[in-house]
Amino acid sequence: MSSPTARWPDTVRCVDPVRNPYAPGAGQRPPELAGRGRELDVFDIVLERIARGRPERSLMLTGLRGVGKTVLLNTLRSQAINRLWGSGKIEARPDQSLRRPVAAALHMAVRELAPRHRAPDRIDAFLGVLKAFAMRAAPTGRGGAAPKLRDRWQPGIDVPASSGRADSGDIEIDLVELLTDAAAVASDVGTGVAIFIDEMQDLGPEDVSALCAACHELSQIGAPLIVVGAGLPHLPAVLSAAKSYSERLFRYQRIDRLDRIAADQALCAPAEREEVEYEPKALDLLYEKSGGYPYFVQAYGKATWDHAPRSPITAADVRVAAPEAEAELAVGFFGSRFERATPAEREYMRAMATLSLVEAEAGGTIRDDMDAAVPTAEIARALGRKPASLSPARDALIKKGLIYSGERGTVAFTVPHFGRYLRTQPA
Ligand SMILES: Nc1ncnc2c1ncn2[C@@H]1O[C@H](COP(=O)(O)OP(=O)(O)O)[C@@H](O)[C@H]1O
Ligand SMILES: [Mg+2]
Repeated sequence: MSSPTARWPDTVRCVDPVRNPYAPGAGQRPPELAGRGRELDVFDIVLERIARGRPERSLMLTGLRGVGKTVLLNTLRSQAINRLWGSGKIEARPDQSLRRPVAAALHMAVRELAPRHRAPDRIDAFLGVLKAFAMRAAPTGRGGAAPKLRDRWQPGIDVPASSGRADSGDIEIDLVELLTDAAAVASDVGTGVAIFIDEMQDLGPEDVSALCAACHELSQIGAPLIVVGAGLPHLPAVLSAAKSYSERLFRYQRIDRLDRIAADQALCAPAEREEVEYEPKALDLLYEKSGGYPYFVQAYGKATWDHAPRSPITAADVRVAAPEAEAELAVGFFGSRFERATPAEREYMRAMATLSLVEAEAGGTIRDDMDAAVPTAEIARALGRKPASLSPARDALIKKGLIYSGERGTVAFTVPHFGRYLRTQPA
């Protein structure tokens, strides 16, 4: 990095808060998507191969909260759109069936393809199948309950629902038929269909199973359709629990914190566009604070910019701004999640937080911001309880997406630095 003072020897550049480029927030597009070049390149090749009928696996992005899975997923979607693919996006939610969101996503995808299609009746035929699929609730509703009133939902498709395809009520059969037809429409215009599924670990087991089966079937017939998922680190376990062959079906990409070069780029590239620079010591300190986690990079970057009176931004500016960044993270990133937990679940997480530091130290990691996975048996011992009596709390925390079980018999936080946050909270 060139010396900032060499560039502006006489003038003092103000750092204008109005022009603050950083964007901390879930799914917020960063001013610079740093360190993801490899993932973008891989996806370009995947799209090209699928469009040419070559075999390719669907992609699954996994990682902790705040590492940038959602923004990467959105960027991959833009890549697909740029190649004139039809695309749609779903955010999975616990206890929500896949049927309707998938119908909405495919509706979107086919609408993108329709203007380039030469046979409008083919589009209408697909929309008829899509409507039948969407309106076909599971025979008795999910979980055996009678379908609720809101389940009698009508998709905004003004073509009559057809019958006999994708409307059996068995999600696995229906999904295979629907996706096959969607891919055929895309094939007609020489591209493909890409479906993006965020928070994929929240899909129900039946839906996961159906989706795996559909991906398997479509890849065998070389249909131009890809599913790109994003989820927490235990997503591979969720998928392989549904279908043992899922490991071969998907290509997993671990999305992790940014290395030093990428983190500096995430801060410096947007600043440079505003003619603002950082002193190297400021960048050292920012990396130490953020640990390279993209959410934290944005949060500390934003607070520092707001406090810095002039360019170049100094380490002293970072030090003054850090408490504000931490206060905002405590409320918006950590606190909002902690509040979802019941008292029993909070107690469980506090025990985890204490133990994760011990585990980290035992594993040779001495930094307070590294949270190691913790054996559940240790948590039970620390709380003086029988392991089985803690299962409900553990399962609820997994369902709420606060912890995950990467390896059997252990749990870890899905939120980076969460252990440290909890250790600073009064009991
Ligand atoms: N590659 C990146 N470079 C810089 N900032 C990023 C990058 N990826 C994500 N961010 C920022 O990190 C934050 C979290 O991103 P998000 O996609 O919501 O993470 P996740 O979905 O993994 O929880 C957002 O503020 C976003 O702007
Ligand atoms: Mg996300």
